[in-house]
Amino acid sequence: MTQPDPTDLSQEGLDALVAAAEQAFAAAGTLAELKAARLAHVDVKSPLAGANRAIGSLPGPERAAAGARIGAAKAAAASALAARTEVLEAERDARILVEEAVDVTVPVGRRPLGARHPLELISERVADVFVAMGWEVAEGPEVEAEWLNFDALNIGPDHPARQMQDTFFVEPPDSHLVLRTHTSPVQARTMLHREPPIYVVCPGKTFRTDDLDATHTPVFHQVEALAVDKGITMAHLKGTLDAFVRALFGPDMRTRLRPSYFPFTEPSAEIDCSCFACNGRAALGECRVCGGSGWIELGGSGMVNRKVLTACGIDPDVYTGFAFGLGIERTLMLRHGVGTMYDMIDGDVRFSSQFGLEL
Ligand code: FA5
Repeated sequence: MTQPDPTDLSQEGLDALVAAAEQAFAAAGTLAELKAARLAHVDVKSPLAGANRAIGSLPGPERAAAGARIGAAKAAAASALAARTEVLEAERDARILVEEAVDVTVPVGRRPLGARHPLELISERVADVFVAMGWEVAEGPEVEAEWLNFDALNIGPDHPARQMQDTFFVEPPDSHLVLRTHTSPVQARTMLHREPPIYVVCPGKTFRTDDLDATHTPVFHQVEALAVDKGITMAHLKGTLDAFVRALFGPDMRTRLRPSYFPFTEPSAEIDCSCFACNGRAALGECRVCGGSGWIELGGSGMVNRKVLTACGIDPDVYTGFAFGLGIERTLMLRHGVGTMYDMIDGDVRFSSQFGLEL
């Protein structure tokens, strides 16, 4: 093909430029080829652009007519380009739709979402309730010094509680280490390390040589609360428990204290809370949760024994304190009607999923 002459501004010369451009556009099979054709035929270095620039060298009277001819030629080339662009873009879009189509009916390897364990969620929730009241969270080790687990808490070597709380001792015996049987050693640790006023809540894992059955597991969880300050009385214990069960179980909940015995508290009390299933309205034997008594046992409590305060370096004539401890598995069973502890230790995500992300 002869090279078009950009200085030929005659109608025939311009028609030839337009025809060359249209031919090149029509021959372009892809958008990339069309881009090359555009650069060659309508861009600044193209013969059409050259023709446009050549207007300036014409004698004055010829310029207007030449300008009109070139304008029409440029418009014709631009419209051919636009038409071809539209065709090629449509082809590209259709191709992408086919190439990148997603068959939503194809079976996929399903990976179900995991779920946090409800024991962890309820432990956190308990701690949150106390943190909201201005308390702090304290932690201690699961392998604990025998002295802190027992002796510091007024559980002497021959104390029956030492057998009652059947203990995992860590080898060798003279290491005097145990798997902590309750969260109460965190009380002792806190009092040894800090000055009153002390307001701490201690969630954690605990261990006893209990056989696994519907209501016992050898590894379970407790939450301990300890307040030591000037002038602390059992009224503070009762008020704190009331606020706590209302926050955890609902605004209508009440607590009651029943006399009990723990070596590390004096006086000691079992904590009962009103039954959230029947709220005391069911007849005896009729409520699945409380059996109709209207009350559910949550854990142990009491005023920190003077001997424990002394062993932990706190003057019992200046400070008093209360403490309580709850079994988390038991709380979860009561709170959600979980029938057996087997479900809690199975590790089956279907159990955890029922609880969602919040309790
Ligand atoms: C104690 O462990 C005391 N330290 C609680 C305490 C703290 C009293 C502060 C006073 C002041 P007890 O042995 O009763 O108490 O255990 C507390 C709770 O742990 C029980 O109410 C029960 O809910 C839970 N628990 C005990 N043994 C097991 C077990 N094997 N499996 C699951 N939960 C258990």
